[in-house]
Amino acid sequence: MNAWWERGDLCFSNGLLMFADRIVEDLARQYGSPSFFYSARRISENIGRLHTALGGAGFGGNLHRVNYAMKANRFAPLLTFLKTTGLCMIDACSPQEVEHAISCGFRPDEISFTATSLSDRDFDRLSRLDGLIMNCDSLYAIQQWGERGAGRSIGIRINPAVGVGRAQNELLQYSGGRTTKFGIYREQFEEARGLAARYGLTIERVHFHTGCGYLTPQLPAWEKVIEECLWFIDQLETVKTVNVGGGLGVPHVDRDEPLDLGLWAGILKNHFLSRKLKIEVEPGDYLVKDAGLLVLTVNQVEKKKDTLFVGVDAGFNLAVEPAVYGLPFQPVPARRREGDEIRTTVVGNINEALDIWYSDIPLPPMRSRDCLSLINAGAYSSSMSSNHCMRGEFKEYLLL
Ligand SMILES: Cc1ncc(COP(=O)(O)O)c(C=O)c1O
Repeated sequence: MNAWWERGDLCFSNGLLMFADRIVEDLARQYGSPSFFYSARRISENIGRLHTALGGAGFGGNLHRVNYAMKANRFAPLLTFLKTTGLCMIDACSPQEVEHAISCGFRPDEISFTATSLSDRDFDRLSRLDGLIMNCDSLYAIQQWGERGAGRSIGIRINPAVGVGRAQNELLQYSGGRTTKFGIYREQFEEARGLAARYGLTIERVHFHTGCGYLTPQLPAWEKVIEECLWFIDQLETVKTVNVGGGLGVPHVDRDEPLDLGLWAGILKNHFLSRKLKIEVEPGDYLVKDAGLLVLTVNQVEKKKDTLFVGVDAGFNLAVEPAVYGLPFQPVPARRREGDEIRTTVVGNINEALDIWYSDIPLPPMRSRDCLSLINAGAYSSSMSSNHCMRGEFKEYLLL
């Protein structure tokens, strides 16, 4: 029987874990560990699925655009690959990201920028770039952008005061009951319009991103977000585009179903097609997360009291989501070994109590020097990694 995460390009074949047509154990032997491997083909397929869903909902051709949220993974070969596919543009959230995307082949007018708490220096750097697509996320940003006379049309990031994220995970919500720093609230809307008018800026886009990791069960909450956003959109006769953010999730555990993109796009159709608005979407997770594998080596295997610990050669600092956001990355042995599965806790090599990859998961017996992979390591892993305990070393490979 196949495991919940198995698919054509990530599966066991003759007892060996295969990823992107390679034997994972061979990758580890040749290139070492810890290493991230990214499948270019899987990324293209993920983008293709989004295009198909949006096209099928009536947003064909120029009526939609996919911007890849590069904060999820900024590995230069991956960005250049994306540019050459022509399948997407970029969502960036710092001047440094913008300049990195440009160095990987994107033009400023292929980059949508949305960020918070920007400095004078940030605004200066950004305003030099011809055609950069700017979404202002505060009154202050509208004023600063206006003062630099940079671009006559802008987007505004709004905060609808409701949000959506992976089931009950407050940490993944950017908007909701708790007041957040993101976007312009209803109470600020009049002032935002006034400021834009004062600087002669036309508000052409409305942008919202209210949370991460949502799957099919969260779609009613996502529709509620859209309904709240219509309050803003319908008052702006100059709006041509709605950027619905990212946040589309992928399964992390066996009870997660993949996001139903048909239903997702249907919600967009219901609300935006008749309003004749172009749709932009800026996912990170959905495009690259399940296209990445973190390949590790088992160091020690030891039972302490009732718990069998498998200690590997990288810790939470290389992929923080399991420890920080409680998003488990399923460990998968590179070789299917016969024998009863044993309840195992996979831990890293960092002296922190939260350095646990996965608690109490049934795994076949593991031995020192075995190869073990973590799936879903393509997003918010290498990009968020740190050198904590000076254990920040890793390698990255794009598999074409
Ligand atoms: C403004 C904005 N857009 C897009 C994204 C991408 O989100 P995700 O990777 O969940 O799709 C983020 C992530 O936090 C974001 O802050």
